[in-house]
Amino acid sequence: MISIAKPVMGEEEKKAVLEVLDSGIIAQGPKVKEFEHNFAQMCGVKHAIATTSGTTALHMALLAHDIGPGDEVITSPFTFIASANSVLFVGAKPVFVDIDPKTFNMNVSQIESAITPKTKAILPVHLYGMTCDMDAIIKIAQKHNLAVIEDACQAHGAEYHGKKAGFFGTGTFSLYPTKNMTSAEGGMITTNDEKIDELCRVIRNHGMRRRYYHDQLGYNFRMTDVHAAIGNAQLAKLPANNAKRRSNAQYYNENLEGVTVPYVPQGFHHVYHQYTIRVPDGKRDDLREYLKQNEIGSEIYYPLPIHKQGFYIDKLGAQTFPQAEFAAEEVLSLPVHPFLSQSDLEKVVETINTFMAKGE
Ligand SMILES: Cc1ncc(COP(=O)(O)O)c(C=O)c1O
Repeated sequence: MISIAKPVMGEEEKKAVLEVLDSGIIAQGPKVKEFEHNFAQMCGVKHAIATTSGTTALHMALLAHDIGPGDEVITSPFTFIASANSVLFVGAKPVFVDIDPKTFNMNVSQIESAITPKTKAILPVHLYGMTCDMDAIIKIAQKHNLAVIEDACQAHGAEYHGKKAGFFGTGTFSLYPTKNMTSAEGGMITTNDEKIDELCRVIRNHGMRRRYYHDQLGYNFRMTDVHAAIGNAQLAKLPANNAKRRSNAQYYNENLEGVTVPYVPQGFHHVYHQYTIRVPDGKRDDLREYLKQNEIGSEIYYPLPIHKQGFYIDKLGAQTFPQAEFAAEEVLSLPVHPFLSQSDLEKVVETINTFMAKGE
């Protein structure tokens, strides 16, 4: 079976974990600090704050920006549920704009008309490993005095005109095993803003600045040194692993027939967390089944846009975003992880091209 994702723990990760276990400091300690330093450097920002997941990174970032009941946050309906759930968790309202059908990211031309006096932030999601059009988003945010919280959970190392995802606003990353890098479970926030950095650290640890004096409501969102040890070893491998993902994608781009391959505008450096094609003429589900019969994994990210999920309809009422809904019917993500062999790539291409040519 050619799997859609393959998290691989090498000797470096194993050694790093054993060192932590032997050190006696297994909760948050020096390894987390080192990981935060290295991650901030990778993104070209001053601060990184480690946490327990991408979901808690989003949650903390929203809290640090003082977003809560009565506030609105503009985001995409075509993403993993956590992007919008984090907004609900702080008591605010997610306001969706439709996606650009070519990039699958927020259609920036629709953002301004979604702004109301209640809007506090824009939450662009860098879907599949390619950033949103950040110049346009930052320009709108500055004009309307809005925070920008990047959901970079799928975009470790992605670049927009030479700057890394997580550089532009308050960045949030997931370190789940299937991501371009992992710490088993974990998350990271990135920022250049001293105040946001400080607030995230306080919220992460029960609202404490002084031990057992609690200045505000906080959580235990702390990463452990065991996870940070894995994260550090994985971060060192990120450039090589992203390069392999990009070369796998290049092979698909050059060889796939009958499907629409990912569109990458000039100045965007895609890191292919997912390699997502569009399958035309209602053939997506049959192609997926054919791939399965041929022992090739694939996945649909995402089959039901967020505004169509039952509890979102209950909360926000019926809404329609035609491009997100159409994408949900056509998208199919193929294996693109760094551990694919040349024969795996050839098999995926041959299987898809055969199916699309026959029109089965
Ligand atoms: C776009 C997006 N946002 C948020 C998350 C949440 O991250 P985590 O699973 O680490 O909580 C994910 C993870 O799948 C994601 O893909």
